[in-house]
Amino acid sequence: MPTKRLALRIGIAGFGTVGQGVWKHLHDHRKPLEERVGARLELHSVAMRDTTKARDVTVPAEKIGTDPIAVATDPEVDIFCELMGGTGIAREATLAALRAGKMVVTANKALICDHGAELFAAAKERGARLYFEASVAGGIPIIKAIREGLVANRFGLIYGILNGTCNYILTRMEAEGKDFEPILEDARRLGYVEADESLDLDGWDAAHKAVILAYLATGHWFDLKEIPVRGIREITLRDMEWARQLGYRVKLLGVIKRDFKREEVFCSVEPSLIPADRILAKVDGGYNGVCVEGDIVGESIYIGRGAGRDATASAVISDIVDAAIDRLHNVPAFMPTYPSARIAFAELSAVKRAFYLRLDVKDQPGVLAEVSAITARHKVSIGSVLQMPAANNGHAHLVLTTHRTSEQQIRDVVAALRKDRSVLGKPLVLPIADFSAK
Ligand code: NAP
Ligand code: HSE
Repeated sequence: MPTKRLALRIGIAGFGTVGQGVWKHLHDHRKPLEERVGARLELHSVAMRDTTKARDVTVPAEKIGTDPIAVATDPEVDIFCELMGGTGIAREATLAALRAGKMVVTANKALICDHGAELFAAAKERGARLYFEASVAGGIPIIKAIREGLVANRFGLIYGILNGTCNYILTRMEAEGKDFEPILEDARRLGYVEADESLDLDGWDAAHKAVILAYLATGHWFDLKEIPVRGIREITLRDMEWARQLGYRVKLLGVIKRDFKREEVFCSVEPSLIPADRILAKVDGGYNGVCVEGDIVGESIYIGRGAGRDATASAVISDIVDAAIDRLHNVPAFMPTYPSARIAFAELSAVKRAFYLRLDVKDQPGVLAEVSAITARHKVSIGSVLQMPAANNGHAHLVLTTHRTSEQQIRDVVAALRKDRSVLGKPLVLPIADFSAK
């Protein structure tokens, strides 16, 4: 005799790119997923702002509402998915669901980065759970990899391309010699770009993800304000071409580096030069790539689609399945506890790296000597020099790479260059990625 299957009800707040992807793929793949979970997975309700907006995915009218808190606290909802974004109503709804003891799934990296400590504490207090696989690197199961597959390791270095939008823009600028704007429009159409696109373009979205990775690696929540964050707006087609001539590619790179002797962590998000023969340098388009250096496993690399409806829905649905199994059998996703070491945030000014330095200068005798006198005065050693005529008559572009030097020294060099009458405009400084785990 067939037994009546238990049903778990899923409520979703947010029905944009990700919400619609989750609804569609859960609907289309329901049967095999239900077999795996051993219960029915019922798409119960969805909240959106504007119920009159045309959507790609159709939902029965009786399941649609406009109040995320009502979905979050609905006693009929077992698993609440926060897919709205931001840290206002998203935080309120997530807290409400956790306080109601629910399983909560979110794709919201800003929320986890800014309020992770508060949310995990609320979950613990109420016996609720918070799943967040889709918050870092889209469809790549990087959170599971770090907290489960690599649990035996301590992590000296994690670095990666963490923003699909920026990687898509840089890749197409370089390949097609096109400007930023039309490519950004394509990224919007593909569903890669945040509602507030400055989060992508100015590096904040990648920084949210870096903070989450740093938490997974160390058990500490670092404050976004402590992290040097830069986006891709200053990168020109020419920089990418000169980087290529020097044997590099330009990528927006998130870096988390831990010094175990000093118990310090350095974390940054900056456009950086990566040696062209590195695997990460070949991760293009909307793809993300994350390299994790564990003290036992060595280097492991994860590549996959970092943004967009389907890749993100894949990660959210994997969390929904974990949450469902957790609800049925009380098997929480494994979350390591961390030794209570005091970990400090390393000051950027003390960190030593090599740099790419691009200057626009007057094309006249003695300029190169003036520039090298300034670098010598600040004890910055030059690795290579390229000089190209600029479109403006009488100007030239000067591209230097330096040997390893401190951030403070390079800042002093730039300050001195800006006072030099032969140097025009603001020099561009980009770090050259350093993959040593020390
Ligand atoms: P989106 O397309 O802008 O969708 C946001 C949805 O939330 C919309 O349906 C919106 O309703 C709804 N919403 C916003 N405020 C609301 C409110 N006060 N009440 C009810 N509904 C509200 O955003 P998305 O790209 O799907 O991103 C959602 C989350 O996933 C964000 O945290 C984002 O960072 C994260 N994420 C996105 C991606 C990606 O590739 N897109 C990847 C990973 C993670 P209306 O449609 O009616 O305006
Ligand atoms: N806007 C984000 C990106 C979405 O472009 O990477 C995925 O988190």
